[in-house]
Amino acid sequence: MRDGKQVFLIHSGFGFQSSEKYVQYRQQLIGDHVFYIYKMILLCISALLVILYLLCNRQFSYWKLKKVPFDKPFLFFGSFFYVTFRKEHVFDRIRIIYNKFSTPYVGIYIFHQPVLVVRSPELVKRILVKDFDKFVNRNVARNLSADPLAFYTVFISKDEIWRCLRSKFSSAFTPLKMKMMSSSIKECAENLSCYLSSHSGETLEIKSVMKKFSTDITSSYAFGIETLCLHHEDSEIFKMAARLVDTTSFIRSVSILSYFFLPRLVDIFKLTFLDKPATDYFCSLFKETLKLREKSKIIRNDFLDILINFSNSEVTMDSCDCDNETIMASQAITFFTAGSDTIAITLSLTFYELALNKVVQDRLRTELREAVHKKGPPTWDMLENVKYLDMVVSEILRKYPLAPMLNRRAEADYLFQETGFTLDKGVSILVPVSGLHYDPDFYPDPYKYDPERFSEENRSKIKPYTYLPFGVGPRNCIGKKFALSVIKMGIAYAIKDFEFGVSDKTSIPLRFDPASIFVQEKQGIYLKISKIA
Ligand code: HEM
Ligand SMILES: *[C@@H]1O[C@H](CO)[C@@H](O)[C@H](O)[C@H]1NC(C)=O
Ligand SMILES: *[C@@H]1O[C@H](CO)[C@@H](O)[C@H](O)[C@H]1NC(C)=O
Ligand SMILES: *[C@@H]1O[C@H](CO)[C@@H](O)[C@H](O)[C@H]1NC(C)=O
Ligand SMILES: *[C@@H]1O[C@H](CO)[C@@H](O)[C@H](O)[C@H]1NC(C)=O
Repeated sequence: MRDGKQVFLIHSGFGFQSSEKYVQYRQQLIGDHVFYIYKMILLCISALLVILYLLCNRQFSYWKLKKVPFDKPFLFFGSFFYVTFRKEHVFDRIRIIYNKFSTPYVGIYIFHQPVLVVRSPELVKRILVKDFDKFVNRNVARNLSADPLAFYTVFISKDEIWRCLRSKFSSAFTPLKMKMMSSSIKECAENLSCYLSSHSGETLEIKSVMKKFSTDITSSYAFGIETLCLHHEDSEIFKMAARLVDTTSFIRSVSILSYFFLPRLVDIFKLTFLDKPATDYFCSLFKETLKLREKSKIIRNDFLDILINFSNSEVTMDSCDCDNETIMASQAITFFTAGSDTIAITLSLTFYELALNKVVQDRLRTELREAVHKKGPPTWDMLENVKYLDMVVSEILRKYPLAPMLNRRAEADYLFQETGFTLDKGVSILVPVSGLHYDPDFYPDPYKYDPERFSEENRSKIKPYTYLPFGVGPRNCIGKKFALSVIKMGIAYAIKDFEFGVSDKTSIPLRFDPASIFVQEKQGIYLKISKIA
């Protein structure tokens, strides 16, 4: 195009006597032009920088004006520069911030947002439990038109909608409901044992095996369907389940970050909390199952029945544009998502630590075998009484809190009486779980994996509100009991008959993948599995 134009100009001569003079002129013209463009770009950039600087400075003066000690923000990114560019896991950044200070609370900025990091266990208790009604909600984006599914989940929803959902779905985890699930969970654990048997002597990537196990369980729980992921290596549902929480693409991880810290982006770009094609897949899967269930009129009293009850009840959701079915599907997808990855990661980290700590592994096996010898194959009730199993799991969740931070929003101005500092309505609160779990004052030698910290005698000495793997208070993890029961069942079936060892493919120490929202190893966890008589 440009060449064509040049040729045209040269031929027409443009009134110049010689083409030489013309070329000179033209070069000057182009030179001027380029210089002009450069100048404009430079001007724009500097104008932008100045605006950004002024903006940031204005925004970044919040803690200074409040006279709260604060972590110096880095440019527009605040304290999360390395996290945004996935050079560092949130888990590590939270610990760095926690360790840098010794005051009960500190201010940080995440992008331009001021966030109060609550360091002292006493304040954690006040915010999550005592004064819960002033901190009911998480500070997350909610945009009904951008992501209707997320809007109605227990995790994201707020105020009245949350209260209504939470009270309804608490009934999904009563001891009675869990007992009903226990036989199918036991069956999945037996199938896991078969799977390990057929791979005895091999080195397996244990996280993906555990993900199959947990997907089988949670899909049966949330959707009422049998997926048999352990049998079919590449089933559709397994691939889709992986996509739901996969944050390896930059866009996905920016979406998740935006939900917590840049809600404006969610509005502008219509970002979704979970991967859209995968949620669409599970949505239609759910609706199909629902149709079958309604047609067959079978009442199984499971999660699906609770959802059906829910949609038949009188509850009114304010100005709801979506059909009841979508709200129901969104619950099923939340429980499925919240369950399958968390359980799989916790299990794989457990086997990793047990492979490194043979003494712990052997003692656990001895206690499990003793219990089996006395009472037969593991059941939930029986595992409740294997004390050492509980210590092993508790210490895994201490060392690897899957959620390195908890998040709340101040729903009203809040006065800290001791200091006279008033936190403004709308400001985010962050509880630095990974900081507390690695504080040597609460957990001496914090890098050591030591189940003895949770022995009956030692456990009572742990300072309250320093151990928060499931959060605490009315907005804690709704699936805590369910998760623990499934995890214990999985460990029991695997450890009682198999030995887990490291191989030369095992990465020691673990490196957390900064691209994942959870703490998990980047390269996968490879362990050697051998059946023992
Ligand atoms: C090892 C497994 C798990 C861990 C470590 C875990 C951890 C957490 C944490 C830290 C929170 C936030 C609590 C707070 O803000 O105080 C949470 C919330 C939640 N979890 Fe879990 N979770 C696990 C398994 C599950 C399972 C299996 C389910 C469902 C079946 C589940 C469903 C939820 C839901 C719905 C919420 C939001 C609760 C609310 O906002 O009211 N989680 N979880
Ligand atoms: C366990 O495996 C068997 C086949 O080996 C299968 O028929 C059964 O449905 C599986 N159970 C579950 C709960 O996945
Ligand atoms: C939600 O997002 C849309 C655009 O995606 C925007 O027009 C609307 O204002 C947002 N709603 C709220 C409540 O922020
Ligand atoms: C659904 O509601 C009926 C009547 O209100 C109740 O009897 C039944 O137990 C409920 N089912 C579940 C699974 O909660
Ligand atoms: C308590 O923990 C310490 C340090 O980990 C350990 O040496 C001790 O044996 C534990 N006490 C009990 C009763 O388990």
